[in-house]
Amino acid sequence: MEIIKKINECKLIVNQLREKGYKIGLVPTMGFLHEGHINLIRMAKRDCDKVFISIFVNPAQFGPDEDFKNYPRDIKKDSALAEKEGVDYIFYPTVQEMYGSDHKTIVEVKELGKIMCGKYRPIHFAGVTTVVLKLFNIVNAQKAYFGQKDYQQMIIIKKMAADLNMDIEIVSGPTKRESNGLALSSRNKYLSVEERENATILYKCLNLAKNMIKNGEKNLEKVKRIVLGNLEDNRFVKSVDYFEFRDTRTLEEIKRVDKDYKSILAAAAVWIGKTRLIDNIIIKVEKQ
Ligand code: PAJ
Repeated sequence: MEIIKKINECKLIVNQLREKGYKIGLVPTMGFLHEGHINLIRMAKRDCDKVFISIFVNPAQFGPDEDFKNYPRDIKKDSALAEKEGVDYIFYPTVQEMYGSDHKTIVEVKELGKIMCGKYRPIHFAGVTTVVLKLFNIVNAQKAYFGQKDYQQMIIIKKMAADLNMDIEIVSGPTKRESNGLALSSRNKYLSVEERENATILYKCLNLAKNMIKNGEKNLEKVKRIVLGNLEDNRFVKSVDYFEFRDTRTLEEIKRVDKDYKSILAAAAVWIGKTRLIDNIIIKVEKQ
């Protein structure tokens, strides 16, 4: 396994691999790897001849009061994990290498980037799409892998790739969880032991919504009220940014279950103490 820090070097290597006819897979990450990332790496290993991961904590997707500085980093552990999984290359640039001192271009998927998490993190998705497009240009892969844990991010990247006629297939992987249901996230590191135990409330509430819908409840506003009540009753939940039902493809808000929907995304963002956690599930709606 090789760690590449320079953009030009990375492009050169990719060009040589493409000339040899290799199929390249890319897993973009911000590092501090866990089973969610590892599963995407394994998917890439199955589909592709050469697997690149990128490790880059992207300042452009953090708001001024967010956790860019404190975001957990551990390149040693990450490289060991990646090597064990058979990753071929880690692209590991510095902020200076990626953005220089005069970076002016922003790539933005309109509307989709302003709802849900985008409402609370206004610059976040423009930062994500900008860096992901740069990574796609640097690691000219045929396939790139994204987790459903960040469902909105995955949809936005698929939309960018389609709108900009990009020659890359966006593949999505399932959300990986701890045995108690808590979705794996590098940010779980911020949680105290007590907070971590209570953070399972998020997945529990998503499942509460699922059960209500499976039991025939059609009024999603009512489901939302009950779930929000449950979240707000938990003393570890400092606040709820949103809990919403959305179309799984367009992310349009859904207020009632009707025969047009086969599956519905239930997604939430909550603050457990000083840590913002997001999670979602897809609820399959039975035939009416
Ligand atoms: P990061 O949070 O490191 O996540 C990298 C990839 O792993 C993303 O596609 C994310 O959806 C996926 N992932 C994270 N937790 C997961 C889990 N529990 N189960 C399955 N997949 C999971 O997302 C980012 O980095 C950045 O925004 C990035 C796309 C790299 C752009 O900077």
